[in-house]
Amino acid sequence: MKLVQVTKDNLRKVVNLKLDETQIGLVSDNVLSMAQAAVNKDYQPRVVVVKGQIVGFLMYSEWLNADWAPVPRPNEYYIFRVMTDRNHQGKGYGRLMMNKVLEEIRAKNPKAIHIGYSESNQVARNFYQSLGFVEYGHFNWGDVAAKIEFK
Ligand SMILES: CC(C)(COP(=O)(O)OP(=O)(O)OC[C@H]1O[C@@H](n2cnc3c(N)ncnc32)[C@H](O)[C@@H]1OP(=O)(O)O)[C@@H](O)C(=O)NCCC(=O)NCCS
Repeated sequence: MKLVQVTKDNLRKVVNLKLDETQIGLVSDNVLSMAQAAVNKDYQPRVVVVKGQIVGFLMYSEWLNADWAPVPRPNEYYIFRVMTDRNHQGKGYGRLMMNKVLEEIRAKNPKAIHIGYSESNQVARNFYQSLGFVEYGHFNWGDVAAKIEFK
């Protein structure tokens, strides 16, 4: 498993990744994510590749220069898109991709890493808690906010 950049060669596969019908709305569409990444240089989109196959997508950003970051928090990071294609869920790829992206962000010496998910998303809540995220409230737009802090 590796995380790679989105390129002109893999973009179509990234936007064709699908959620289960019951999961639609839990995370924004990859088309929107890539449109946002095209106009925000701080956004870090990543493709999840397993044995040459594209199985998922995630995106994070430092907490600045975004509509959700009116007050900048340098050295804090927010992972705001995480998805595994519906045909590849439950195979351990989500855990692997989160471990990889946490490692990538930790290499930047962060003060904190934030994540968000909707109140109804019990799978995400349990999953992120198992990775060490601790809930601390809600974002303005209603999602549960959780973070890992570093001393
Ligand atoms: C959340 C998500 C990314 C997990 O991806 P995944 O590749 O299935 O993850 P894994 O196979 O590594 O599973 C991670 C954990 O979640 C659990 N899990 C995954 N799917 C589950 C399901 N449908 N029901 C219950 N638990 C589930 C697994 O059991 C695992 O826990 P464990 O290691 O303690 O057994 C995936 O379910 C998804 O894309 N969901 C829709 C989008 C979303 O909700 N994104 C998160 C909010 S931004």
